[in-house]
Amino acid sequence: MTTTADYTEKIPNNVSLHEDRRLQRALESWQPNFLHWWQTMGPTLPTQDVYLRTAVNVGRDGWAQFGHVAMPEYRWGIFLAERDPGRKVGFGEHKGEPVWDKVPGEYRAELQRLIVIQGDTEPASVEQQRNLGATAPSLYDLRNLFQVNVEEGRHLWAMVYLLHAYFGREGREEAEELLHRNSGSLDSPRILGAFNEETPDWLSFYMFTYFTDRDGKYQLGTLKESAFDPLSRTCEFMLKEEAHHMMVGTTGVDRVVQRTVEVMRSRDTDDVAGLGAIPLPVIQKYLNFHYSVSLDLFGGETSTNVANYYTAGLKGRWLEDRRKDDHKLTSDSIMVDALTEDAGTGELSIGQTEVMALTGLNTDLRREYISDCQGGVKRWNRILEEAGVRYRLKLPHIAFNRKVGAFAGIEASPDGEKLTAGEWQRRQGEWLPTDVDKTYVRSLMQPVHQRGKIAAWIAPPRNGINGQPFDYDYVHLA
Ligand SMILES: [Fe+2]
Ligand SMILES: [Fe+2]
Repeated sequence: MTTTADYTEKIPNNVSLHEDRRLQRALESWQPNFLHWWQTMGPTLPTQDVYLRTAVNVGRDGWAQFGHVAMPEYRWGIFLAERDPGRKVGFGEHKGEPVWDKVPGEYRAELQRLIVIQGDTEPASVEQQRNLGATAPSLYDLRNLFQVNVEEGRHLWAMVYLLHAYFGREGREEAEELLHRNSGSLDSPRILGAFNEETPDWLSFYMFTYFTDRDGKYQLGTLKESAFDPLSRTCEFMLKEEAHHMMVGTTGVDRVVQRTVEVMRSRDTDDVAGLGAIPLPVIQKYLNFHYSVSLDLFGGETSTNVANYYTAGLKGRWLEDRRKDDHKLTSDSIMVDALTEDAGTGELSIGQTEVMALTGLNTDLRREYISDCQGGVKRWNRILEEAGVRYRLKLPHIAFNRKVGAFAGIEASPDGEKLTAGEWQRRQGEWLPTDVDKTYVRSLMQPVHQRGKIAAWIAPPRNGINGQPFDYDYVHLA
């Protein structure tokens, strides 16, 4: 294997694809299906070309190059991080053994499932975001949207490569299915709930890239620990690209908050609806929604499947090697969120319960994610503080608006107060975007496709892309 991609091939890759003609042919016959999917389900705004980065190398420095590219001609390729020949399994019952270059027969079904679930999210987000180009607030933002889209397409390639290379006919069938399921489709929806929600406006897009792409970061982080080395190396390189997606979300929300406080101060009012900015309480509602649906992506608080994945070495913990325990967890326990029953009254309340550490691994991962999410809130609140605004954003309680896990059957306020169904019905409009909020946000989404110009509801970015100025010609529209 080399670190530099071979661009003379139909499918750029650093996995010596030309040495395996059968695999190469199989992927080359999937390629037109992918392109058909991109043309029919990908970005709808017609463009000539876009200033995009393309992965060319997996090495530490200079792994990507930038240039104007016609999107259908983007070089989607297959890149695995460099192989560490001495790498050992870091956890579970195989801890200390050499990692696997092939799929062990006994774990085949589980590994295939993990790869399909990850693979399904990648094209889903492209589908969810396909119409956003028509309302982009600037060419800079438009370019970032397309960058995220082409890289999610490449992440699909990454998973399809694993399916084709290691899972035989079943893997090839799954690769086809990844193009046939579609976000929001009634007949064949995407596998996970959050990936069937639409991304109808740019505030949703920034929240999605902040909260939902960040879920992706944590899932990839656990797969990067896998004893199945090709999966580990694939995910390691995907994480590198993923960082930009989250930057788009973090700074996108920064800029919305920034613009809102500017309008609040210049007009000396909190009520900026009607003044072309997005009121802070509406930003909070969007945050509440995207955060709570992203929490659901981590699954139930306890899971025997995930315990088995861990013991088998298929999926580790976030930053497994930094954990100071035996990396087997067979005798450890963890407190997980739960509905607890009062022994006297039988009433259920929001609490915690102790379980085996292995079965509580979803909770462990969700907690890592939550503390990472706090970072964004802190940053946005600093903008409010510096502007002398009293309002503060916050993450809602873990039980708020949950559809998966211990709290799926109850309703709770963002402060974690348990509510009756009636109270929830009456009050959810205070906490989640209402039709009025969504209509207002959508009314602001007028396209600004002129070079160097920006929509009134968002501040310009501090920096351009790859050292280019904000008014660079990031996108040439068709
Ligand atoms: Fe991705
Ligand atoms: Fe992403």
